[in-house]
Amino acid sequence: MSPSPEEVIENQRQDWNRVAGGWEKWDRFFDEQMAFLNHRLVADARLRSGMRVLDLGSGTGYPALLAAQTVGTHGQVIGIDLAVQMLDAARRKATLLRLSNLTFQTGDVTSLPFEQTSFDAVTTRFCLMFLPEIQKAVTEIARVLKPNAWLASAVWSAPDKNPYLKIPIDIIKQFIEIPPPDPTAPGIFRLAKPGDLAGMLQQAGLVDISEQEFLGDVQFSTAEEYVSSLMDIAAPIQNLWARLSPRQQTDARGKIIESAGQYRKGSGIALPIAVRMISGRKPW
Ligand SMILES: C[S@@+](CC[C@H](N)C(=O)[O-])C[C@H]1O[C@@H](n2cnc3c(N)ncnc32)[C@H](O)[C@@H]1O
Repeated sequence: MSPSPEEVIENQRQDWNRVAGGWEKWDRFFDEQMAFLNHRLVADARLRSGMRVLDLGSGTGYPALLAAQTVGTHGQVIGIDLAVQMLDAARRKATLLRLSNLTFQTGDVTSLPFEQTSFDAVTTRFCLMFLPEIQKAVTEIARVLKPNAWLASAVWSAPDKNPYLKIPIDIIKQFIEIPPPDPTAPGIFRLAKPGDLAGMLQQAGLVDISEQEFLGDVQFSTAEEYVSSLMDIAAPIQNLWARLSPRQQTDARGKIIESAGQYRKGSGIALPIAVRMISGRKPW
């Protein structure tokens, strides 16, 4: 039997709290590697000085931190996330950056605790695919946006275009049986299908919907660095990894390192990623 929405939410909360330390440990590295996505979201959301912005599933602060720098002291950014420990890390960074216009609060993005038409923009990176009720969340987003305001979102595209994530999953599957995922079940690739999230935006009444697959890579000095960092931060992959015996983990690690070797670039490795950037505007 598939888990209820409440169970999914609770599992998500526990999963991301568990990896919060890993996100903080690798923060500088992934900030450098993935900053281009934050800039793209800030552009797609048309952020400007003075705006009031909501960031959904902010985790350790992306793209909320850049959004706060963009809207400046006359603007305001609120980040919301289930996992208090992820948000604690985000708060520490906001303090270091002296961002007094950025606050974080815990909550479920499926039911937003905000008035209707109260935000000039909504941003969200790598969160929506983990929700048990995505359409409900998108309807909530449309409700809190002001007329003419934009939603900008980033979700993972298809596994075949994301060796960065696919390699370990394929190798773990060589050791344990993982049933093919229910295409509607929350997970890393839940919104990978072209048009899926865009259709939900349309159903919620958003217009000028655009969808683009954005290709990039994540660069590591060594394949060992790749495996260690991914296992520290990717909660869903960590859950699969935990099902392997210590012996299987050692063998799987070796195979992942070998497989990542085919993406050698210069003195390091560059693992391809493909991210679906989907945006839409609330009509006047
Ligand atoms: C992969 S992390 C992404 C964090 C950040 N946006 C980034 O790109 O670095 C996914 C985040 O979504 C949050 N999340 C998952 N389901 C959520 C929900 N229903 N409501 C709020 N946050 C949720 C998790 O707690 C986690 O921090």
